[in-house]
Amino acid sequence: MSAPTHKLNLCSQGIALKALFTGYLVVVAVGYLMAVVQIQLTHGMADGEMGLSVDDIVYSYYGKRSGSALEAKLNGSMKLMASEQDRLKIINWVHKGADEKAFYDTGIRKIIDTNCIACHNASSGLPIPDWTKFENVAEKAKTDTGASFSSLARVSHIHLFGIAFIFMFIGLIFSLAAGVPKYLKASVIVMPYIFLMIDISSWWLTKLNPNFAWLVIIGGGAMALSFAFMWTVSMYEMWIMPRLHSDSRDALLDE
Ligand code: HEC
Repeated sequence: MSAPTHKLNLCSQGIALKALFTGYLVVVAVGYLMAVVQIQLTHGMADGEMGLSVDDIVYSYYGKRSGSALEAKLNGSMKLMASEQDRLKIINWVHKGADEKAFYDTGIRKIIDTNCIACHNASSGLPIPDWTKFENVAEKAKTDTGASFSSLARVSHIHLFGIAFIFMFIGLIFSLAAGVPKYLKASVIVMPYIFLMIDISSWWLTKLNPNFAWLVIIGGGAMALSFAFMWTVSMYEMWIMPRLHSDSRDALLDE
């Protein structure tokens, strides 16, 4: 009896399995790109500038605790909308807790009616809050504490399940690559799981302490690196290696 010539490695598989693996790898790569675009459009703009930065991550998870949106705007782009005296009155009201009774009693309602609602009303057609309603003013007078715990819990469990699933299949395909030393291979396969845990834990840590924001970047970056490595090696062993030489090693036996 002759030894079987078909070995478990990516290079010597038939066209059907290679087509299946390649289809999957291409689609998850496009999915990854879309995720990057989406991060740029949501978190990337948190600090008001294009591109993802540590500040964006701090603002998204920890919030801008130095003050409320209302105060920030009254010192920023809305500065010229009211007199110095009226602005200080509003800011003072915010500092004192943005109480509903004081809103009417100390004349804040009147200041806003006179200076702000020409633009800040429901029929202006502008994508800005309607200041004719007290709740909307109160909402922007609150200190921004970033992502809520419930939204973190929701996004965390979706990411843990979803990303673990993606890396299970990429890791399976990559485990059939014969040309990577076994310890390097095992490390690249577990890396995304470790960094996924670090990435998601660091969202929660950043919510509590802004110094953890850099850990979010490291976690996400390391995950992307291992993705790129497994993707490139798998594609290479399926489509380029067979043109150069045959492969008789069994990838699953660490040969
Ligand atoms: C001339 C029209 C105009 C007037 C008057 C005006 N605003 Fe605005 N406001 C805008 C526009 C446009 C934006 C969105 C662009 C920006 O944020 O700078 C905005 C945004 C804001 C925001 C941020 C809203 C958000 O979604 O976070 C706050 C807070 C705000 N204005 C407060 C005020 C206050 C307080 C006054 C009155 C003292 C005022 N504005 C008067 C046009 C106006």
